[in-house]
Amino acid sequence: MATTQEAIQAPVRESSAPSFDVKRIREDFPILKQKVHGKPLVYLDNAATSQKPAQVIEALLRFYTHDCSNVHRGVHLLSERATEAYEGTRVKVQRFLNASDSREIIFVRGTTEGINLVAQTYGRQNVKLGDEILITGLEHHSNIVPWQILCEEKGAFLHVVPINDRGELMLEEFKKLLNVRTRLVAAAHVSNALGTINPVREIVQMAHAMNVPVLLDGAQATPHMKVDVQELGCDFYAFSGHKVFGPTGIGALYGKAELLEAMPPFQGGGDMISSVTFEKTIYNAIPYKFEAGTPNIADVYGLGAALDYVNQIGLANIASYEHALLSYATEAVNQIPGVRIIGTAREKAGVISFVLEGVHAHDVGTILDREGIAVRTGHHCAQPVMDRFGVPATVRASLAFYNTKQEINALAAGIQRVKALFG
Ligand SMILES: Cc1ncc(COP(=O)(O)O)c(C=O)c1O
Repeated sequence: MATTQEAIQAPVRESSAPSFDVKRIREDFPILKQKVHGKPLVYLDNAATSQKPAQVIEALLRFYTHDCSNVHRGVHLLSERATEAYEGTRVKVQRFLNASDSREIIFVRGTTEGINLVAQTYGRQNVKLGDEILITGLEHHSNIVPWQILCEEKGAFLHVVPINDRGELMLEEFKKLLNVRTRLVAAAHVSNALGTINPVREIVQMAHAMNVPVLLDGAQATPHMKVDVQELGCDFYAFSGHKVFGPTGIGALYGKAELLEAMPPFQGGGDMISSVTFEKTIYNAIPYKFEAGTPNIADVYGLGAALDYVNQIGLANIASYEHALLSYATEAVNQIPGVRIIGTAREKAGVISFVLEGVHAHDVGTILDREGIAVRTGHHCAQPVMDRFGVPATVRASLAFYNTKQEINALAAGIQRVKALFG
């Protein structure tokens, strides 16, 4: 049996696309050079958060050492620079999602805040007693709980589209559950627990045929594939900067302009107003109506740098490299007797979730950590998915474009080691 150390050092042909130089790309990520417990770090917890290239770290430094000031307020040069960079990133996000207008991009803390914003504004305005909200059985807690809170407040009902044994959405059930009382559909673009890519275009088409708007949770899609909100036709799309190689605490919500215009504000405060008297406040235009208070300017700088970085590599290159790596990893892990992969959808991105017979997921994760391999263990903030498969937890290895086949070999060797230890 190869040790993880040997597995990492073994020569493996890496490249699926000739232009994709993973060795060169890894040079951009300072964190990947470190050792963990004396072993080279094998970072396979990218679905939780991804690592940051030097370009992102430098952008944060640039803000604090050169441009630090508030946006939209000052007439001085620093404020002008910060405002230009802040609004420039809004345009980068618009292009990243192919939204038709930068006014449709709202900066938020991340996917969670984006979804809560829609629930608390659009939802509170449009959902009434007896109405229904439709989600899927694949959702992260952040696309379940905000809707439960709303339904509880309004006396509305939350319905869930089931998934099959592969972890794929049952579209025929979706069709049955959609009805005249449905006020909103909220669905993950890609599942964080299983990696399933949902048929979001069909979901949008079916919902729109019933005049029901659709929110897509793009937290796990944006790091792996090109997203085009106009092509998808969705009404809202949320993602987190920290999953697309940007900083924590920043993300974006896309919303169709006509919907955002009609929605009440999320929070009150500075910047979201055009005039205030004690008698009446006139709200600012979109997107500012939804950005109360001093925003997370520094991390917007970082997000802009992250999107530039991803664009420079190219999402098509990323998708094809990762597709090959996921197939390689699936085969490598599947070959190990006693391993059961949870989630075998035909369309998947970035994630292998598995259980190892006779060993608790937490123990697998702890032993892998001693080998320098970072994976996630637990319910992955998707407890209903675990319930659906009758497991309390899984081990989740999640990929990014800087991962290599050697690292997958290290993972497989690490799992073999767990098996050997547990006899
Ligand atoms: C599918 C999905 N949705 C939502 C979230 C929440 O993202 P955040 O914690 O960045 O707000 C995550 C995070 O893991 C996720 O994977």
